[in-house]
Amino acid sequence: MALAGKRILIIIGGGIAAYKVLELIRRLREAGTEVRVVMTAAAKHFVTELSVASLTGSKVFSDLFSLTDEAEMGHIQLSRNTDLLVVAPATADLLARMAHGLANDLASTLLLATDKKILVAPAMNLRMWLAPATQRNVRTLKNDGVLFVGPEDGDMACGEYGPGRMSEPANILAAIDQALKGNTALPLPPALRREGGALMGKRVIITSGPTHEPIDPVRYIANRSSGKQGHALAAAAAAAGAEVILISGPVALPDPDGVETHRIETALEMRAAVEAALPADIFIGAAAVADWRVANTAEGKIKKGFRPPGFSLVENPDILASVARHGSMRPRLVVGFAAETADVLAHARAKLERKGCDIIVANDVSAGSDVMGSDENQITIVTRAGLEPLPRLRKDEVARRLITRLADLLPSMPEPAPMAKTGSGSDV
Ligand code: CTP
Repeated sequence: MALAGKRILIIIGGGIAAYKVLELIRRLREAGTEVRVVMTAAAKHFVTELSVASLTGSKVFSDLFSLTDEAEMGHIQLSRNTDLLVVAPATADLLARMAHGLANDLASTLLLATDKKILVAPAMNLRMWLAPATQRNVRTLKNDGVLFVGPEDGDMACGEYGPGRMSEPANILAAIDQALKGNTALPLPPALRREGGALMGKRVIITSGPTHEPIDPVRYIANRSSGKQGHALAAAAAAAGAEVILISGPVALPDPDGVETHRIETALEMRAAVEAALPADIFIGAAAVADWRVANTAEGKIKKGFRPPGFSLVENPDILASVARHGSMRPRLVVGFAAETADVLAHARAKLERKGCDIIVANDVSAGSDVMGSDENQITIVTRAGLEPLPRLRKDEVARRLITRLADLLPSMPEPAPMAKTGSGSDV
């Protein structure tokens, strides 16, 4: 965990989920993080300054024009003298004000004045979340490099069901830890993106490499994926003009030029990073995600004893399947890989159905195929319409051809479901 010794500024917005932030503060403090809190006027209807102050052990800020606070610290300092700003719950109103650069209270002023990363945990009624205005604001904020955790699907305080619930404190904590690891680079400025490519104006999320699932602090379960094919796809998509977000497990490769690269270790971290990167036009799951993680990870190094240590495994979430079935934010084109050692095409077709994706890229990784870790690959593009085998080629050429094919197919895919309208919110 990257939390110990770090300083976090939490901005509590005015939503029913504000009570969960108390639990988040408690956990951060337990992890050795220094927490300062700013509350919006609306937040005070949901949690009291007294409970927040007693948990953080320091004063709560809320007034933009407080003479005492300005004399002691100054709001610019408050926004900079921190490692990360976290907005939770991030209401529709707060997101809108952030997206438009408003600075009409202490919270929005700090968010505009900061030079640090911002992580938001949205929470609102599902119609407010799905409203075109909110989705537009979310896209703007993601483009500006703001990090997102959630919202999640679930029962809402208003009696409806759908996306809009704030992520649980444990998930927000994991996202904070991830953001603090310093590997969530800001998006490439538009001025640096290449013009005229087949994917110009499209947003592409790609997973790559293996995941590492810890057994204890020094050991982990892994696989032989090198990340070469996934990274080559990211480079090819960027060369085609796309805005590319690459979510990579531990690999020995440099981050591709012109690609926003997030480095993660575990499958759970990969899923959180993918969720935070959505929405997108295309998702490509090229990572070799570990199917299982260790349920009872040891806190300290397991010592050699009388008998070998026993540990139980639990199944990891299927990231590809969850993106393909992501009701509100399913990318228009969802592409998976099937690296198989036998019955390659039969397994690939079965995966296409089981995971609900549009394309499976099948390849043979059996002993003697010389694909894992090598610079060459032989793939077959499997769609519901049929099979398109490619010859054995260098992985960068495979990537270039696959990206060209995806750019061709994209316009023929069904439009994403239209977003619902209605709903309003206030956080001032
Ligand atoms: N995948 C994923 N999340 C997982 C497992 C796999 O997103 N937890 C994705 C991979 O990135 C790849 C595709 O699913 O695009 C197929 O991965 P593979 O390991 O071949 O499939 P599994 O579901 O693990 O099936 P099996 O182990 O039976 O081959």
